[in-house]
Amino acid sequence: MSVKPYVLTERGVLRCEQVTYPMEERGLQFGDGVYEVVSLYNGAYIWLQEHLDRLYRSAAAIRLSVPFAPEELSERLEQLRRMNDVHEDAILYLQVTRGSFPRNHAFPTENRPNLYAYIQPMARKTDEMTHGVRAILTKDVRWEYCYIKSLNLLPNVLAKQEAVERGAFEAILHRDGVVTEGSSSNMFLVKGETVYTHPATERILNGIVRTKVKQFCADLGIPLIEKAFSVHDIAEADELFLTSTTSAIIPIIQVDDTTIGNGQPGTVTKSLQAAYQKATQPATSNA
Ligand code: PDD
Repeated sequence: MSVKPYVLTERGVLRCEQVTYPMEERGLQFGDGVYEVVSLYNGAYIWLQEHLDRLYRSAAAIRLSVPFAPEELSERLEQLRRMNDVHEDAILYLQVTRGSFPRNHAFPTENRPNLYAYIQPMARKTDEMTHGVRAILTKDVRWEYCYIKSLNLLPNVLAKQEAVERGAFEAILHRDGVVTEGSSSNMFLVKGETVYTHPATERILNGIVRTKVKQFCADLGIPLIEKAFSVHDIAEADELFLTSTTSAIIPIIQVDDTTIGNGQPGTVTKSLQAAYQKATQPATSNA
């Protein structure tokens, strides 16, 4: 699917063809930047404020300033959505980098960050949500600051590619047997009535959908414990599921050669999917 014609940049909204960055862009050369991915259902942003809050936190963590103040950025993103006439399900990609300067590892002396954001139509993963997916286990070889949504995604890219080549949807990352998260998602394990997920430490990205799942569990009276589980716990799990902006809530029915539970999406996962659906519904019906 193609990208919508208008792009938000640090200079304002431009036509896609007008957006060119020089070779010496720090995002390209050093991965020196941060990003966000926000979903739109029927043309309405979902949890935009939460995503923007995290963007500013990620930027602050790498001492990067976002070109617009938070309120202005929200307004500009709304302008971008309107100019692109978005009414369908879509994804916003937004990144901020430390700018374009002669190559030098140290920060440039001038503060001139680059920003771009574009919208691309995207279908919901209905099939995966309904039937569940396979996953593989692989080592988490990332740095210590995974809570920053940084552009440095090479370990994630390699893990996802390994999953794809092994016929799986996602790679589950572990450090010495302790499951952290997926290559581009958060991981949840259900044992009995209780949901377990890695605590929001520096070892994981605290997903926006993850924080919503915590709220859904509280609302539904499902106990959720933020405690890491191990690769061995997976074999004993009743259910396993992943969350992300692009995937919503997807059941995992097999990990490597191990079938999870009865090999079907479980009841806890399904009730959380229903809660997700409900929470994102107002945006759907207002559109
Ligand atoms: N990734 N963990 C990692 C490593 C991720 O890359 C993502 C999302 C998540 C889930 O976060 P959220 O619920 O806020 O989407 C967890 C996005 C979708 C991406 O890189 O495309």
